[in-house]
Amino acid sequence: MERLEQLIEEARAAFAAVDQPAALENEKARFLGKSGSITGLLKGLGKLAPQEKRVQGARINAAKEAIERLLAERRAQIAEAELNARLAQESIDVTLPGRKRGAGGIHPVIRTWMRVEKIFGSIGFDVADGPEIETDWFNFTALNNPPNHPARSMQDTFYVDINGTDGLPLNLRTHTSPMQVRYARVHRPPIKVIAPGRTYRVDSDATHSPMFHQVEGLWIDEDVSFADLKGVYTDFLRRFFESDDLQVRFRPSFFPFTEPSAEIDMMFTSGPNKGKWLEISGAGQVHPTVVRNFGLDPEQYIGFAFGSGLERLTMLRYGVDDLRLFFEGDLRFLSQFN
Ligand code: DAH
Repeated sequence: MERLEQLIEEARAAFAAVDQPAALENEKARFLGKSGSITGLLKGLGKLAPQEKRVQGARINAAKEAIERLLAERRAQIAEAELNARLAQESIDVTLPGRKRGAGGIHPVIRTWMRVEKIFGSIGFDVADGPEIETDWFNFTALNNPPNHPARSMQDTFYVDINGTDGLPLNLRTHTSPMQVRYARVHRPPIKVIAPGRTYRVDSDATHSPMFHQVEGLWIDEDVSFADLKGVYTDFLRRFFESDDLQVRFRPSFFPFTEPSAEIDMMFTSGPNKGKWLEISGAGQVHPTVVRNFGLDPEQYIGFAFGSGLERLTMLRYGVDDLRLFFEGDLRFLSQFN
């Protein structure tokens, strides 16, 4: 019966040598399967005499049970090892830094827009909003633009294939100035408003984009003077750039909707841009014809208006020298402003 002892040892060794469930089941078949060695021995019992059969049968069955026990033990070991391996692999390292969600942010030009609203809001200016698709009358005629003014030409203005109430093609507003007229026609003086928004021109290079932003300002009352424009605008620039180290000058210019007209230049007296005059805004005393188009008597009402580029203000504030960066949507650029 050494043969049975030997089989048990063989099974123990065979089961120990494998570490995968499928391989273990294959090894099981070698001993306990249909043509396994134990099964073979049991089959051979038939040839034996009854007395012998009982004794041998009991022994073979004991060996079979021993092998089954070894098998069950090994199954449990393999299952536990598998579980431990999985636990080790799937464990969470709580010391790893968390994965941040991109938080999004405010576009630098919109930041400027918000700052401008806040600064003018703090000195009593209302904020108005209006259509980006304008009629010829509001965009040009009401602002004293003569019919042959170059701004009306196909080169500068995006026209829409639809006519406005004035029978002329609608356009994408080329400036925020029509908002002066829209606002003043529905409010009584004193009129004190800014109108920031999108504007459009057929123009595209490092300092021009077909879509850009302006802020219009208008202050009309019985005694608003050019001195008020100087005071308000200079104060605005100092607050916008958070610096008193800047000078402002008003250079004579021409706009159809103001008389006199001025170009506002500013110069930083410290910092990387110091010593250079930079054009920052158009401005002037509102032309009597425009005041009349407001529905007001120019003999009684007077005031100033200005129109400034929000991209320009943003570029100067942050030292950006190519305007196209604002519109390319490159997060490496945009995320620097958050
Ligand atoms: N609308 C002018 C432009 O787009 C800017 C401007 C100049 C606006 C003078 C004004 C102003 O209100 O008074 O170039």
